[in-house]
Amino acid sequence: MNRKAKIAVFASGSGSNFEAIEEACRNGDLHAEIVIVVTDQPAAFVVERARQVDARIVAFQPKAFQSKNAYEEAILRELNDVGAEWLVLAGYMRLIGPVLLTAYQSHIINIHPSLLPAFPGKDAIGQAIAHGVKVTGVTVHLVDAGMDTGLILAQQAVDVVDGDAEKTAEVIHAVEHELYKDTLNVLFRR
Ligand code: GAR
Repeated sequence: MNRKAKIAVFASGSGSNFEAIEEACRNGDLHAEIVIVVTDQPAAFVVERARQVDARIVAFQPKAFQSKNAYEEAILRELNDVGAEWLVLAGYMRLIGPVLLTAYQSHIINIHPSLLPAFPGKDAIGQAIAHGVKVTGVTVHLVDAGMDTGLILAQQAVDVVDGDAEKTAEVIHAVEHELYKDTLNVLFRR
């Protein structure tokens, strides 16, 4: 068996995907080890979840840096420090810039709650409901400089439940947690 992939999880929000990834790593369902959690939102609930499992956390405020490059260079130093090999975005609501894209070419993955290229950006589930679609879903893709635009690795459709964002989000999150793990396992085992 190959050694475990060393991953950095990037998150800005509640961190349910972080939690699912962490649990899968711990159970041996995901062939990886979380070496660091990166957030741009020091008050986000993901920080609490990361603390609970004693994960190393980096919580820089982008505004505290002179430029996006300076912000990402500070993150890059932390990533190098712990030997992170893959960047796994789990609700990280910020475009990745040239510093990290260059350092981690083809090694940055994102999950998005729609069938891309439909409904990129924020509140994809709300966008889908507002458009009245009957089927939406989840996409896992490689990250490039665009907003949710990189090469698609995996997708799964999800029926919209009663035209309701909250009920649909519940199903989408459950699908995300499985699809992310399965897709990452394929990448990490190569
Ligand atoms: C997830 O639904 C993820 O797909 C989405 O943010 C949510 C984070 O939830 N990401 C994007 O919209 C990226 N454009 P979580 O904090 O509970 O994992």
